[in-house]
Amino acid sequence: MSDIELFQAIHTARSLRRLKPDPVPEGLITQVLDAAIRAPSGGNAQNWAFLVVRDPELRRSLGAVYRKASDIAAKVYAAKGRPAHMTERQYERMMSTGVHLWNHMGDAPVILVPCLRRLEVPDAPGIDLAAERAYAERIRGASIYPAVQNIILACRALGLGTTITTNHLRCEDDVRVLLSLPDDVDSFALMPIGWPIDRFGRVSRRPLAEVTHADRWGNAWPA
Ligand SMILES: Cc1cc2nc3c(=O)[nH]c(=O)nc-3n(C[C@H](O)[C@H](O)[C@H](O)COP(=O)(O)O)c2cc1C
Repeated sequence: MSDIELFQAIHTARSLRRLKPDPVPEGLITQVLDAAIRAPSGGNAQNWAFLVVRDPELRRSLGAVYRKASDIAAKVYAAKGRPAHMTERQYERMMSTGVHLWNHMGDAPVILVPCLRRLEVPDAPGIDLAAERAYAERIRGASIYPAVQNIILACRALGLGTTITTNHLRCEDDVRVLLSLPDDVDSFALMPIGWPIDRFGRVSRRPLAEVTHADRWGNAWPA
């Protein structure tokens, strides 16, 4: 088990979508989840829930939903084409490993499903219900995706491969039924977790100077 430096983990926690079927010790998954629940959440509500799917039949069924949803995603990707900032090689890697996962999500030994319980906006004097509900909708996801990033980093530290995926949300109700989610609980990702076939490598991103502004939009940051 490795215990690597934080910045090394951040810089090398790339999406690893090709995973060995070998089981992952339960203690490691617990360690990953213990990192997940250290994340921030709005109002410290901690209204999250994490489903750890190991049952082979259930994984197969989730894999089939992911496959179905990915058929829809495939059309979107084909229409969008390669983003300008990605090289042919980077794009090819993303697409080929992505397609692998379309067909093998159910083969991952663990599929982690981060969820959130919807919270009611309090109806009290002085509260603009419509505005508060719109605000809640605007920040939807912000109370679970930090936990997802902690999961990614914890997996990296432990040498486990994973990636965030959201394709299944195109067929969200199928997942809801399979996992017996209560009506007020939504899933936000399917995260396959397992021992990686490919190696961790440095993540490549658009340059800092291109995406950072000093004080106001358009002022260069000296990076
Ligand atoms: C909101 C979101 C949704 C994503 N959905 C999927 C997905 O459905 N399937 C998939 O294979 N990867 C998915 N990814 C992973 C991205 O493709 C990946 O983060 C990106 O290509 C960068 O990869 P890298 O970290 O390996 O460089 C998603 C990432 C984010 C942030």
